[in-house]
Amino acid sequence: MLLYLRYLSIVVAATTTLVTSFPVAEHYERYFPAGVKTTCKVGNFALTFDDGPFMYTNELLDKLEEEDIKVTFFVNGHNFWDVPSMPEAQDTIRRAYEAGHQIASHTYSHANLSTLDMEDVKREVQSLEEVLLPIIGKKPAFIRPPFGAVTDVNFNLLTGLGYTVVRWSVDSKGYETPNLETEMALYKAQVGPSNGIVGGIALEHDVYQQTVEELIDFTIDYVKSQGYKFVTVAECFGIDPYQ
Ligand SMILES: *[C@@H]1O[C@H](CO)[C@@H](O)[C@H](O)[C@H]1NC(C)=O
Ligand SMILES: [Zn+2]
Repeated sequence: MLLYLRYLSIVVAATTTLVTSFPVAEHYERYFPAGVKTTCKVGNFALTFDDGPFMYTNELLDKLEEEDIKVTFFVNGHNFWDVPSMPEAQDTIRRAYEAGHQIASHTYSHANLSTLDMEDVKREVQSLEEVLLPIIGKKPAFIRPPFGAVTDVNFNLLTGLGYTVVRWSVDSKGYETPNLETEMALYKAQVGPSNGIVGGIALEHDVYQQTVEELIDFTIDYVKSQGYKFVTVAECFGIDPYQ
């Protein structure tokens, strides 16, 4: 009963987060240091999912298993779900990891790192490492700063902590609109045929039902039709995904 109530309150809290953060757009920073990675190697394409895990992640994992595609999850410790207190959240991350998807950092609490001093940036990164260690037995080697916001000072700090810092080259703005037509148009405008072209890193969020149930089906078909091979972000650079 107690557990059930606790679960309910988490669901209510999560739903509230969902309602208040949607459909308001996440606004992304324009500036980022030159060393931040945004693209994948020629002919390759990385699908990435931020802000999870959440209640739609397992459905996404089912689809990816059917399609035999490996992706990258930039997870939080405390965002839509509170991973430390939720076995279901931990199981979801473990399932993704064991299926061969890359688990990467999106910080512990989805903080805007540009507003934090160095100690707090370190805490955001290391708190998530502590959450992930018992689940996957490893520390991620890739991080995507929330909102893509990263100062030069923070970039150097993250690099010093062993991280490759990643943003994206393709944004279908699924967080802004649940409108498939708009998202498809953005994809088509940003992703052309793969022939000899530098590959993309696509920003998606597995915390939205429409992303998982509509957008991803289109994305997979479309990116395939343009001739790309799906890879994890680590494979884009031939770097070990963990440290
Ligand atoms: C992140 O913080 C910086 C520095 O205060 C600010 O300029 C920026 O607007 C913030 N970004 C978001 C998405 O809140
Ligand atoms: Zn995010």
